[in-house]
Amino acid sequence: MATTKAKPATPTADKRWRIVDATMRRNGYKRNGLIEALHTVQECFGYVDETALRYVAQSLRVPLSAAFGVVTFYHFFTLRPPGKHTCVVCTGTACYIRGAQKLLDQMAGEWNVQEGQTSRDGVVSLLTARCVGSCGLAPVVVADGDVVPKVTSEKLAELSQRWRDEPG
Ligand code: FES
Repeated sequence: MATTKAKPATPTADKRWRIVDATMRRNGYKRNGLIEALHTVQECFGYVDETALRYVAQSLRVPLSAAFGVVTFYHFFTLRPPGKHTCVVCTGTACYIRGAQKLLDQMAGEWNVQEGQTSRDGVVSLLTARCVGSCGLAPVVVADGDVVPKVTSEKLAELSQRWRDEPG
């Protein structure tokens, strides 16, 4: 229990931190679970920013520099999404069953972008996550950090339109 006692509070109330916590817990909050924990952050949020690095580093009691070292060494980590907006389509089982693939295809088509990439105009980074912890609201999209519940094709089109209409 001593290990969990000193665990810092999650950076935000975002449910995705629970998934990150679950990964760390599964590995007994051991330092050698660092890469897996960061990988979970990447999967859930689409990138690993400094807040996440600090949180994971503190939770596992590793120096922040070690966490930075990991994300800069492995190419599959992204420190922040390059697009102005980030759209993470959840492709976990619950969302998949409720049509996540269609939503992903729609977004990819609308912005002419592939999963994991940013649209040419730099407006949207399209990412996927395996489960963002809101299965009851499936299908879910996380738009700029906000969970959008029960996403329909119309809702997604509206979101794209809003981003498109934004000034410069
Ligand atoms: S599968 Fe999408 S939120 Fe869990």
